[in-house]
Parts: sequence; structure tokens; C-alpha cells
Amino acid sequence: VKRFAVIGHPVAHSLSPRIHAAFGRQVGIALEYAAMDAPPELFDAIVAEFAAEGGLGANVTLPHKNRAVSVCTTLSERARRAGAVNTLVRTATGWEGDNTDGVGLVRDLTERQGLDLRSRRTLLIGAGGAARGVAPALLDAGIGDLYIVNRTPERADALADALASPGRVHPRYLRDIDTLGTFDLIVNATSAARTDGLPSLPMALANPRTAAVDLSYGEVAIPFLAWARAAGAHDGIDGLGMLVEQAAESFLRWHGVRPETDEVYETLREHRA
Ligand code: ATR
Repeated sequence: VKRFAVIGHPVAHSLSPRIHAAFGRQVGIALEYAAMDAPPELFDAIVAEFAAEGGLGANVTLPHKNRAVSVCTTLSERARRAGAVNTLVRTATGWEGDNTDGVGLVRDLTERQGLDLRSRRTLLIGAGGAARGVAPALLDAGIGDLYIVNRTPERADALADALASPGRVHPRYLRDIDTLGTFDLIVNATSAARTDGLPSLPMALANPRTAAVDLSYGEVAIPFLAWARAAGAHDGIDGLGMLVEQAAESFLRWHGVRPETDEVYETLREHRA
């Protein structure tokens, strides 16, 4: 049986094993997909061991998406642009690193949520692995200007530099967030709600057309979505759809077939509505 895994820390509550098992049943491919906990100092060793045991592919999640770049012998164009890897694909020469987060997010927003992203003035909050994964795909989807704020300003600058579209991408200080005006798309890509709590966000960031998107789901997404509702945003969207869509894109890389996502999405949504 073909072996796959999601590698993270913590990883016990990951939905990816359920999603990939459902995809496998749907298209008739026998596969094993495990959740593997890897503390940062053991990440490289665990990936090497997984390869030695015949692992064919893995998803990489928090906090390893940046680190995973360095275990790869090749990177896809979108992983290289993101500087972050969420999908490892076994090749004859080692791991190819790919990143399916961005296309997963855009597919969820445009196809499932029915949003037209084109020309939307966009605020990206955060500049870590999650933010890096989605920023290139948002630009490719035709958003308008992209403003990036981050607690550590150097990381916002570095992400803006990596995106190499100086006319369109604007790093700004988080402390100046009051001066940025209003946005049609606001993406929370910080992990703040998991630890110290969401940074304080002015209500004036949202307008009646705003789509507010949190890249996480479940309890972690609640504070930002509550802020979005209070601020009068038009849509509040969590990361569950993105999770399912990035999984489908990874599945396509590993198995050469794109699974249907609606049924899995609906099932997960019912259980965590
Ligand atoms: P991920 O893969 O979730 O992006 P990460 O690379 O560790 O993980 O990035 C976490 C992001 O959340 C970063 O943008 C981080 O800001 P810093 O770059 O300043 O660390 C942001 N973040 C985490 N805790 C935060 C907090 N309490 N307030 C604001 N931003 C926070």
C-alpha cells in the first residue's frame, strides 16, 4: 500500500488523514495516510526516515513549511516563489517541494464561495509560512494592490521583496494599520489566535463589500471572524475550504487524478459548523 503522511507539530488534530482517506476511497486508490508529529529539531530526521521506509509523499504543516524547503532537492515554481513547502513529492532524486496552499485558497474563494477576486484591494496580515504560501496565488488571481503587515516588519519586507512586484505590493508597519484605509479582501495569515490572541484590528479596515478570510479553521478562526462580523464585512470565511482544496491539489500531484471536494467539505463542515 502506498504511504503518505502529514508532518507537523502539533498534528494530532489534523483533518488531512480523513480527507486523503476519503479521496482515496472516492477514486479507488489504496493508500495509507498517517499523522506524524515532528518537533522542529527532529523534522529533517523524520522526513529522511519516512523516505527510507518508502513514503511517497507528505504534507508539511505548522511550523515546518519554511524549514521543509531545505529537505527538497527540487522545488516547483510556486514553492520557490512562496519560499515555503506544504507538499513533498517523492522523485528518483529525492523530494520535490511543492506548495498547494495558494491555489487551494484561490479555488475555495472563487469556486466554492463564488468571490470575484479581481482588483480587490487586499490586506494580508502575517508574513510567515502561511502568508508566503498564499500571496503569489492571490497576485496571480488578479487582486489589486496587496498590503502586507506583520508583527515583525522585516518579515513583511522580505515577503514583499520575494514577490517582486514593487508597484503592487506594499509592506507596512502593523502599528500604522489605522492609516491604511479600507480593504475589499482581508486575509488573516497569523497564528496569533493560537497563542497570544489576535492583534487589535481597527473596524475601519472593513467595508460592506469586504471578504474577510482566516486561513485557519475551527476555534482558532473564531476571533478574526467575530471581528469581521462586528466590522461589517460582507463575508467571513474560514480556512476549511482551503484545507480541502489544497489537499485535492496535493492528491493530484501524488496520484495524477483530481478528486471531487464537495462531499468531503460538506461532511467536515457539518461536523464543525
Ligand atoms: P505559519 O506557518 O502559521 O505562517 P509562522 O511562519 O511561524 O507560522 O508565522 C506565524 C505568523 O503569525 C507570523 O506572521 C507571526 O508574526 P512574526 O513574523 O512577527 O512572528 C504571526 N504572529 C504570531 N503570533 C502573533 C501575535 N501574537 N501577534 C501578531 N502576529 C503574530
